[in-house]
Amino acid sequence: SLPKNATIIEVGPRDGLQNEGKLVKTKDKLQFIDALQQAGIHEMELTSFVSPKWVPQMADAKEIVAGTKKMGRQFVLTPNKLGIDTALESDAQSLAVFVGVSDTFNKKNINKTTQESMDALKPLVLELKKQGIFVRACISTAFYCPFEGAIAPEATIALCREFVDWGVDELSVADTIGMANPKESYDLFNQLVQEFPEILIAAHFHDTRRMALANIVSALQAGVTRFDASAGGLGGCPFAPGATGNVATEDVVNMLHRMNVQTGIDLDLLCVAIKTIEPHVTNPVTTGMYTLYKNR
Ligand code: HMG
Ligand code: MG
Repeated sequence: SLPKNATIIEVGPRDGLQNEGKLVKTKDKLQFIDALQQAGIHEMELTSFVSPKWVPQMADAKEIVAGTKKMGRQFVLTPNKLGIDTALESDAQSLAVFVGVSDTFNKKNINKTTQESMDALKPLVLELKKQGIFVRACISTAFYCPFEGAIAPEATIALCREFVDWGVDELSVADTIGMANPKESYDLFNQLVQEFPEILIAAHFHDTRRMALANIVSALQAGVTRFDASAGGLGGCPFAPGATGNVATEDVVNMLHRMNVQTGIDLDLLCVAIKTIEPHVTNPVTTGMYTLYKNR
């Protein structure tokens, strides 16, 4: 049977915009975030404290945190000590660290092997947990890597286990290039839910092959109740060739509501939020629910 409620973690302001070629003005990002909050989004990835040389679009991370009304749980991504220190100085409240199961992807994304990343992150995460800070661990290439192909589920689970041992609060397990199918989604999330019942588990699907909604249903059936999604289906990782946008929040919300799984999000107001950002991104938004909203 399905749960009565599910939580959406909106990643549009972070994953959605990080891959956008045209620089979006800080004020336009803040207007988007505000509109998302008004739609009832209570968990959100706001931005990342990464190197502006690597991801120019996220260079205004401090201004984004400072300009956002505190509401619910707000994450910022941090790749290293400098990112964590700057984020905490900026009064960010919940942090997300990220690592790829695949070495090749991790090298391209963070300039370290997976093991080097874990060695560097361990003391940092332990310190954050000592300070009582909420830590989300984002696991990239959990199913497939654009360079190495299929990833063994055991490798993904082993990486998750390490983070759980360090005391992280949440795992966000990602299909970075939108290649997983619903059976793979069910199998991996079923194992994760069974093995780590004590921590939050989120599913993060990109929709490259249009299997993301099906993968969400599978993960839901496996017991997952937290889903990363991006308004308008924006997004992608600049260092993962072929990664297109995240599953669209409006389509996930519509599907869940139609299945009597509540999210607390107002679909019309969500479309209003998409309308605020659409003129500032390169490609028109063509997702199902937003198209219906515009043509109404
Ligand atoms: P590096 O070049 O090895 O780092 O990059 P470095 O320590 O040699 O530093 C290089 C320069 O960057 C220095 O500046 C540092 O100060 C600066 P310089 O001396 O040359 O002027 N720097 C920073 N500046 C601001 N904030 C920082 C920071 N760190 C260093 N935190 C590094 C290593 C990790 C910095 C780089 O690779 C990086 O920033 N990578 C981020 C990549 C990224 O943001 N990817 C997208 C997010 S992950 C994702 O999208 C996947 C996810 O959605 C799940 C999924 O779908 O798979 C989460
Ligand atoms: Mg992503």
